[in-house]
Amino acid sequence: MVNGLIIKHVLASTEPRQAVTVKGWVRTRRDAKGFSFLELNDGSCLASLQVVVDAGIPGAEHLPQFTTGASVVVEGNLVPSPAKGQKWELRASRVELVGAADASYPLQKKGHTMEFLRTIAHLRPRSNLFGAVFRVRSRLAFAVHKFFQDRDFVYVHTPIITASDCEGAGELFRVTSLKGNIDEKPEADFFSKRTFLTVSGQLEGEAFACALSRIYTFGPTFRAENSNTARHAAEFWMIEPEMAFCDLQADMDLGEEFIKAMAQYAREQCADDLALFEKFVDKELGHRLRFVVERPFVRVPYTEAIAVLKKSGRKFEFPVDYGLNLQAEHERFLTEEHFKSPVTVYNYPREIKPFYMRLNDDGQTVTAMDVLVPGIGEVIGGAQREERLDQLAENMKLHNLKPEDYGWYLDLRRYGAVPHAGFGLGFERLLMFLTGVPNIRDVIPFARTPGNAEF
Ligand code: 4AD
Ligand code: MG
Repeated sequence: MVNGLIIKHVLASTEPRQAVTVKGWVRTRRDAKGFSFLELNDGSCLASLQVVVDAGIPGAEHLPQFTTGASVVVEGNLVPSPAKGQKWELRASRVELVGAADASYPLQKKGHTMEFLRTIAHLRPRSNLFGAVFRVRSRLAFAVHKFFQDRDFVYVHTPIITASDCEGAGELFRVTSLKGNIDEKPEADFFSKRTFLTVSGQLEGEAFACALSRIYTFGPTFRAENSNTARHAAEFWMIEPEMAFCDLQADMDLGEEFIKAMAQYAREQCADDLALFEKFVDKELGHRLRFVVERPFVRVPYTEAIAVLKKSGRKFEFPVDYGLNLQAEHERFLTEEHFKSPVTVYNYPREIKPFYMRLNDDGQTVTAMDVLVPGIGEVIGGAQREERLDQLAENMKLHNLKPEDYGWYLDLRRYGAVPHAGFGLGFERLLMFLTGVPNIRDVIPFARTPGNAEF
């Protein structure tokens, strides 16, 4: 039953049109003597269409039920609008109520808090702000594919259920069909072993990069991280490119180019929605996105980042020292206050990074890289991978991993091993950066966070 026009197309008309049919939800209704104004929105764009309904036309007898939230069909002629700020309005010749919405409809008034809107995640996409967020999310998902497909990367669907903990951080959700004590006999479980929801498609991605040269994944990822922060979700989408015959430099180049391309795409393709974010969410947004597109990112080795933090004279909640992880507050100081730019930090101490990263000649650091951006901190985590069999086996020992659990992964180093590198980018963190929306819960349709799996 897809017929009629979407409001986006109607509003883009270059000349008046006869006998137009539109369908949508009433945002507001104002009654005057003998006629009414409806603001009609169908989510196809930010703007609503103004509809003028004369009291005498067919269907107008139901106007009292054309309340905020009701769904309606309107037929009429598109004519230039005398009102300010809008080019067109629809002079209705017939209106029809499809579904009424009574006074309990929760989106009656503007100015609800983001916290309240999260409790009505099934209705919030009907608000201006969330309509914009989810249109941008859709456009950017397309832009991700376009970026990689234009560069001949092959899209690989890596498994969601897996037996390996790629990151070794122990933040896994268990998948089991057993009842009772699930650890007693893992071999009796559905997959005859312990299995989990994936925290990263990287390991499987490496296998495909070592066959198809350039690949990327783009799919859901799960982490049972008990961090109730504005930038952690238990279920999020990750983009993971992986390239054969590639070193850390080229990996950093790709990561930076990718972020710039996404910012540019959003500016070109989502201008109306971005203007809304700039007005109501983040006054700096336009300036920041232009800066990201036009200026090179700063690159510093981890040791230099630590030196900057130590010299800052700043009191941080978490300690700063060589060998410690950078915390969000440190990342944000580097990008927001010190460098005032996105920053790529590379060559981290091997102790604080996963087993698969390549050991540098100094024997101390590994070829890790994280891209940090203002307002968020880490958006990309990546590395050149350890392609030397002996070294990889030693790394695994250091991380208490059993080589027999990773036989297939070690095979990639036995047969035609090549230097290779890749990264993971959290799609929601990218969206936070490109929209200015400060909480990850507000860029996911239905967020999963500790203690919350509503909807
Ligand atoms: O830095 P991470 O843990 O790296 C990996 O998983 C690598 N295996 C990726 C690779 O090299 N192929 O995660 C990558 C990115 C982070 O930089 C962050 O943007 C995002 O994933 N991320 C999260 N986003 C939302 N909620 C969480 N709980 C996240 N954990 C990581
Ligand atoms: Mg990371």
